[in-house]
Amino acid sequence: MVDILGSILSADFGSLQLEVDKITDASVDGIHLDVMDGNFVPNISFGLPVINKIETDLPLDFHLMIRNPETFVRHLVDEDCRFRRSKFKHSVTLHAEASAEIDDDLEMLRAYGYSPRIAINPATPVTALEKFLPLVDGVLVMSVNPGFAGQKFIEGVLSKVAYIKEQNPKLLVGLDGGVNDKSLPLIAKTECDYLVSASYLFNSNNYAVAVDSLRF
Ligand code: DX5
Ligand code: ZN
Repeated sequence: MVDILGSILSADFGSLQLEVDKITDASVDGIHLDVMDGNFVPNISFGLPVINKIETDLPLDFHLMIRNPETFVRHLVDEDCRFRRSKFKHSVTLHAEASAEIDDDLEMLRAYGYSPRIAINPATPVTALEKFLPLVDGVLVMSVNPGFAGQKFIEGVLSKVAYIKEQNPKLLVGLDGGVNDKSLPLIAKTECDYLVSASYLFNSNNYAVAVDSLRF
């Protein structure tokens, strides 16, 4: 069955902890953290000062939409970082497009107990992933152009899931963007392992029903 990760990008930031508690009660499998820098993507969201305040017993899934992610990665591996070598295996996803030199970052993340992953934008050919696949546990296939919640699912990315599984069936493949009850029938035909949801989940009246409705 697919894992469902709740992206807090569409949460009520005025009650962030309550929102995290509510999606936890709704049985999400992890908390997806969309970190944006206003440079790699045309939006600024939140960073470690906000993330550090979140109390949760769920694994965190850092999605770094930032140019030159090494500074953020350095914070994550710092000996004072509360997420380093924690009892949970937190995942950290870097974008294939963000910097030419992320091999060392991916290796360092693994060495400090994180699950390293790579994300790929809709317009980037899937072959751009090839050199990163031996370094990661998973691939996040973007099904919208990153930057904002609430966009329409881009169907054309779905063939990337099969390509990645052909390269290595053990890689965890996620889909991020426009995941909802309308796109789910198409998504359910793929072999993807996890789905990220922001607006569909947080705009629903009942988070548990919304989470259940995305599982297949
Ligand atoms: C987009 C983010 C997504 C976003 C998904 O840049 O990476 O995680 O929060 O939002 P929805 O589920 O509303 O498309
Ligand atoms: Zn995301």
